[in-house]
Amino acid sequence: MSLQEDLAAVQAQALVEVSAVTDTEALERWRVAYLGRQGTLTLLLRRVGELPQEERREAGASANQARVLLEGRLEEELARISALETERRLAAEIIDVTLPGRPLPRGRLHPTTRTIRDITAVFTALGFQVVEGPEVEWDYYNFEALNIPPGHPARDMWNTLWTDYRDADGNQPMLLRTHTSPMQVRVMQERQPPIRVVVPGRCYRYEATDATHESIFHQIEGLAVDEGITFANLKGTLYEFARRLFGQERRIRFRCDYFPFVEPGVDMSIDCFRCQGAGCAICSQTGWIEIMGAGMVHPEVLRRVGYDPARYTGFAFGLGPERIAMLKYGIEDIRLFYANDLRFLEQF
Ligand code: FA5
Repeated sequence: MSLQEDLAAVQAQALVEVSAVTDTEALERWRVAYLGRQGTLTLLLRRVGELPQEERREAGASANQARVLLEGRLEEELARISALETERRLAAEIIDVTLPGRPLPRGRLHPTTRTIRDITAVFTALGFQVVEGPEVEWDYYNFEALNIPPGHPARDMWNTLWTDYRDADGNQPMLLRTHTSPMQVRVMQERQPPIRVVVPGRCYRYEATDATHESIFHQIEGLAVDEGITFANLKGTLYEFARRLFGQERRIRFRCDYFPFVEPGVDMSIDCFRCQGAGCAICSQTGWIEIMGAGMVHPEVLRRVGYDPARYTGFAFGLGPERIAMLKYGIEDIRLFYANDLRFLEQF
């Protein structure tokens, strides 16, 4: 067969095949088969150069014509097929606007957050202001200014997580605050009496965790300083707090306790709201539930921040909102709070 005849046959074959193509992948295979570097038409075009001079011109012209024709078809088919594919995709993606929408899951407050808000709401109603402070703290604020100098045995009451960081003199280490009490000092340094603040925030201790101990937990600190504040004010305020949070019929009990930054120091209990004081599992059969440490601000602490203890007195207290939430909602293990188990969290 002459080259001309070959060209005509290849062109006819290519045109038949291309009209059967229905997707872009098949079209690409067709392009490679005819117009690719090893394609049938490309190979024929190369043969033109081998023809004798007198045949070359005419054969070259027909070969080019065939190439232009096939390339033209390629363009047309590409447009046709991609329109076809868009149509197919749209048909597959059709949205049924009559279907009911997917419900958005509704978030809620974490039980700790909720309890902190409940507690601070009681104190703000009693005239306290909410302030917050740093979780990474200097030794000075966490201990020393609270009347707990280096080497004091009371430091053992707080299992402390220390950082490697020290102040510019290299004397004072930084730590993760073990309680919110350092904020007593920071607030008094910045303000003059009268002071009434509550300080919610995260605390850290190097604890072996169990049902009532976490290594990351919260506290709410309270501080009131003014002229003429007495233990009666402490009692009255905390009594009112207990009744607003746990019910009007609550009774409270104070017992001596030791914290170096208060004098006298107490722990406060409420009578058990489950058994009304008769004795049950919640109150360990005692009828009483301990809910916080408190006391009159130690004169030494006042002196350190530049207050005259002969003029000003104050009371302070510290409580754990997780423990309060455990009591209020009957939660048996503090570790549930931070296990991120929605079955637990969704109950609040
Ligand atoms: C203190 O930390 C004192 N700063 C409280 C205080 C403030 C006393 C002001 C006097 C005046 P204590 O170590 O007892 O005290 O902790 C107070 C409360 O924090 C506890 O009653 C408890 O509710 C909570 N708490 C302490 N350690 C943990 C822990 N590991 N996990 C969960 N809650 C804790």
